[in-house]
Amino acid sequence: MNLAIETKKLVKTYKGRGGSGITVVDNLDLEVGAGEIFGFLGPNGAGKTTTIKILLGIIAATSGEAYVLGGEAGDIEVHRRLSYLPEKPYYYEYMTGLELMRFYASLFKIKDEAKCIELLRRVNLGNDFNRPISQYSKGMQQRVGLAQSLLNDPELLFLDEPTGGLDPIAHIEIRDLILQFREEGKTVFISSHELSDVERICDRVAIINKGQIVAQGRLEHLLAGGRVEITADGVDQAMHDALMAPERVVSLKSGRLILDIADTDDVNSILDSLRTKQCKVQSIIPRRKRLEDLFIEAVGADDVAKGRERGRMTEKGEAVAVTETKEEENV
Ligand SMILES: Nc1ncnc2c1ncn2[C@@H]1O[C@H](COP(=O)(O)OP(=O)(O)O)[C@@H](O)[C@H]1O
Ligand SMILES: [Mg+2]
Repeated sequence: MNLAIETKKLVKTYKGRGGSGITVVDNLDLEVGAGEIFGFLGPNGAGKTTTIKILLGIIAATSGEAYVLGGEAGDIEVHRRLSYLPEKPYYYEYMTGLELMRFYASLFKIKDEAKCIELLRRVNLGNDFNRPISQYSKGMQQRVGLAQSLLNDPELLFLDEPTGGLDPIAHIEIRDLILQFREEGKTVFISSHELSDVERICDRVAIINKGQIVAQGRLEHLLAGGRVEITADGVDQAMHDALMAPERVVSLKSGRLILDIADTDDVNSILDSLRTKQCKVQSIIPRRKRLEDLFIEAVGADDVAKGRERGRMTEKGEAVAVTETKEEENV
């Protein structure tokens, strides 16, 4: 796999109260393939944003290695080829969408008004780019953020919680845009706890909890190992009894059999026995695990609840679990 991002034993420790260290990124080994949409999942406070900031060179790791697009994290040449949409972007709200694009374009020394407008159209802000951002909904702000993140035609995009707090329509729009990015060959690194979005668009995911990776791999592999449902008609009680086994759910009503088996069971031999008795197989449906089940399995229901709690506290601006300390003290 050609890697766009790689970390080896990445660690970030913050100084806590009384000088004790608090490790929020803990021996992280990440591998993100070029051209894939990679989901970086975890409950609130798991260490997602901290990891992204290390990958961008905004904060320094305490130890370990981080490579982005073949260079060291934070390398200026690498920066030209990537872009970043922060979790809570800050915009000059008195600017219009177009003025904001001009402003970011000037930072990249891009003097291409047509490109600014084309990108605003691409994210469906074609009718609104002359309105001040203060009048934009959360979804429109997120779309202008995506438009600016495309200005330098990046190979790699970091999107930190891109669909957080959006309504369902805006979710779909943002998801569709991200899928287009992949079609253009871009690598997209998304941190999120919006599992349904991740499930729909990501090729591979890593789940982190308390700074450690608890699952990583292709989504279809992680979600496999579920169940298969077989439905057949013309089944008698003797066949029903023959198919009964521990871990199988078998029901028979008016000759219709519904059989729920582990996908490691031998589906072929079950189908053979049904066919020898002239039973009519109606459907065979593989039932994948849902990402939510995998997430709770990997993170643990307690930690999911605690993450939710931390998220609520942080959003209200009340005390977080760890004392915020100045970056300089930690790097
Ligand atoms: N500057 C900082 N000083 C001390 N602790 C911090 C600092 N920034 C983040 N943390 C802590 O690091 C942990 C991980 O935070 P973060 O990476 O923002 O999590 P996530 O993005 O997964 O919600 C949290 O417990 C948070 O309170
Ligand atoms: Mg975060």
